[in-house]
Amino acid sequence: MRIAVTTPNGNVGRHLTPMLVRAGVRPLLLTRHPERLPAWLTAYADIERADCREPDEVVAATEGVEVVYWVDPPAESADPLTDYARATEALTAAVARNGIRRVVFQSSVGAEKRRGAGEIDGLAATEVAIDDLGVDVTHLRCGYFFTNLLFDIASVRSGRLQTVLPLDHRMSWVAPRDIAEVAALTLLNHDWSGRRVQAVHGPEDLSWAEVAQILTAALDREVTVERLSDDQLHAQYLAAGLPPATAEAVLGMSTGLRDDFVPEQARTAVTTTATRLATWARDELRPHL
Ligand SMILES: NC(=O)c1ccc[n+]([C@@H]2O[C@H](COP(=O)([O-])OP(=O)(O)OC[C@H]3O[C@@H](n4cnc5c(N)ncnc54)[C@H](OP(=O)(O)O)[C@@H]3O)[C@@H](O)[C@H]2O)c1
Repeated sequence: MRIAVTTPNGNVGRHLTPMLVRAGVRPLLLTRHPERLPAWLTAYADIERADCREPDEVVAATEGVEVVYWVDPPAESADPLTDYARATEALTAAVARNGIRRVVFQSSVGAEKRRGAGEIDGLAATEVAIDDLGVDVTHLRCGYFFTNLLFDIASVRSGRLQTVLPLDHRMSWVAPRDIAEVAALTLLNHDWSGRRVQAVHGPEDLSWAEVAQILTAALDREVTVERLSDDQLHAQYLAAGLPPATAEAVLGMSTGLRDDFVPEQARTAVTTTATRLATWARDELRPHL
């Protein structure tokens, strides 16, 4: 079974690829930058250069592939949802042209809303497009990645986090390594078929107030969090140079999953994974401070 992995150097891909190698699989890695992959991988994986927003490149790179772990790459242009749409087009072209039978898709909690959750709307559109292809698919609806704290490392360093969510609003937080584990197990399990949704919720739902407490203890420095209004955070994003559509799309991921949003899948033993925020913060956040 030929398994392709996209964004092999990404937050999830960098864990998923070695897991597949340890399982005895020789994955095919799709990357724009083969030179950035760890050198040891070349002995254990095949590597194809492809931009996952370019249908022709993805079609050419996935010839002979039966199963794909698909990640819509993070948006880079001033129009995030167009970036997601281009990635969707690349995947659907590859599935249609190369007869890929199975897809495991890295989606997000909130994609079930379909509209009104900023960038997550792009993932929702990918889910719908894959569903329309009629192939076997598992949509991994992931919680909020611990690694998002690295995007705003300056705030962690200064000990002042900010959010537009109520400080006691709980949501799922998850280690990308745990998503990779669920992804690997799903890719290697031949017993499922049709359309599946599987949430990956991490060990526990956390509020931003609880996150600040956990980081304070794990990092040995005080971390606080303040709630901003939507307009305040939007203005900060624009002042930091984000294009207007990006500011909207980033803000929408919080505002769209606030208020009366209830995830389609409740937390169960199936959706709960092991790595705790405190452990991740000590191992992976602390070295950046
Ligand atoms: N962050 C969250 O909380 C969260 C939650 C649920 C779902 N998601 C979704 O997960 C996905 C990944 O998000 P992430 O922020 O964790 O990013 P990521 O997987 O770490 O992605 C970064 C990687 O993508 C590669 N990449 C970027 N553009 C590419 C392109 N056009 N073609 C091929 N590879 C490309 C980069 O490699 P090079 O630059 O070397 O090419 C880099 O290694 C997104 O679709 C996001 O919406 C995120």
